[in-house]
Amino acid sequence: MRVCSIVGVRPQFVKAGVVSREIRAVGEEVLVHTGQHYDDEMSDVFFDELEIPEPEYNLGVQSNTHGRQTAGMIEAIEPVVEEEDPDAMVLYGDTNSTLAGAIVGSKCDFPVAHVEAGLRSFNREMPEEVNRILTDHASDALFAPSRRAVENLVDEGIEDGVYWTGDVMYDAILEARDRAAETSSALDEFGVEEDGFVLATVHRERNTDHRENLESILEGLAASALPVIFPAHPRTVDRLEEYGLRERADRNLEIVEPQGYLDFVRLLDAAERVATDSGGVQKEAFFLETPCVTLREETEWTETVDCGWNVLVGADGDRIAEALERSFDPDSTPTPYGDGMASRRIVSALQDELDVDDRGVAIDPVLEPVEPSNSR
Ligand code: UD1
Ligand code: UDP
Repeated sequence: MRVCSIVGVRPQFVKAGVVSREIRAVGEEVLVHTGQHYDDEMSDVFFDELEIPEPEYNLGVQSNTHGRQTAGMIEAIEPVVEEEDPDAMVLYGDTNSTLAGAIVGSKCDFPVAHVEAGLRSFNREMPEEVNRILTDHASDALFAPSRRAVENLVDEGIEDGVYWTGDVMYDAILEARDRAAETSSALDEFGVEEDGFVLATVHRERNTDHRENLESILEGLAASALPVIFPAHPRTVDRLEEYGLRERADRNLEIVEPQGYLDFVRLLDAAERVATDSGGVQKEAFFLETPCVTLREETEWTETVDCGWNVLVGADGDRIAEALERSFDPDSTPTPYGDGMASRRIVSALQDELDVDDRGVAIDPVLEPVEPSNSR
């Protein structure tokens, strides 16, 4: 089996870290980095820490408008896959890099495999919602992280090639948690103690590119009784400066560089709570049992809300301030995102789809229903 994997942004490096290893244990991988994230702290640090092999191609597409960026990636990916002629293309998540890969794969007739298929926010104003719907409908193998994701696909008439594998970010965090606790000095660096601070991240277009939303989020965070550590995405730093909000933010928050994965996991594990609009961080908070205040009105990771670990507050300063103070009393700790073996299951399912004879991976490609339990 020879696959071409497309990555471009930091959560995709985290996901590919665990999946690449399983692919390379049984076959060949050509790793393609579109270049969507390119600063060292948004890209290189993840390859180093997670020991992801150097990409065979870096397409260097970088930042642009949605259309230009996606078009640049399509133009750059096509000759690579034509040259490499893989058995399948593996795509992750819901970014412009994902969509570009899906378009090339389906147009050039390479089987497309989508990791993190079936997620829906039901908000078509999010660029990511459009990306994930189009990618799912162009995919031949769909690896769903939850049962809900499988149901979403079925509701849209997609049934063939769907596998409930669990979530690869759960695999990644299980590996990283102890390593982060042993190696990271982030708490000392920022002068905070376990349970003595709030961690915050903001990068969604709706929150950064609308001044009133960003300002309202800052007001809500500023009301926190605990110090707020805010590893700022470069897009957010740009907007803070453009809107003249940087000084005010600096007065109330500890704005720091984007963190490497291990330092970030350490901070998330130790935080009293996290305020975020990130998809990955909502899940990781749940895995690490850190209460999460989500700066959006909806989420794709509904299970985290249903069981009381996550609360949706939008970009509303008052609701954010209230959620940072209130007590969280989760009524159970279910395991909706699998058993930590999603990456192995994905590779096994991919082998099934591609009729690989020499399997080498002994695992059922579909999860059995996981009963709620008291420990994750
Ligand atoms: C992208 C994804 C989003 C994902 C996020 C993960 C899309 C549409 N969005 O959003 O789904 O949640 O990655 O972090 O694909 N920039 C830098 N240096 C970098 C990267 C970005 O300075 O290394 C700045 C540029 O000013 C750029 C802006 O950040 O215009 C936004 O970057 P972009 O990749 O377009 O979107 P993200 O907000 O990172
Ligand atoms: N992350 C990180 N450093 C940071 C912020 C996030 O390592 O400063 C990691 C985080 O642990 C998670 C991923 O990046 O694995 C989430 O990425 P992001 O929030 O940018 O994107 P999303 O998940 O919303 O697509």
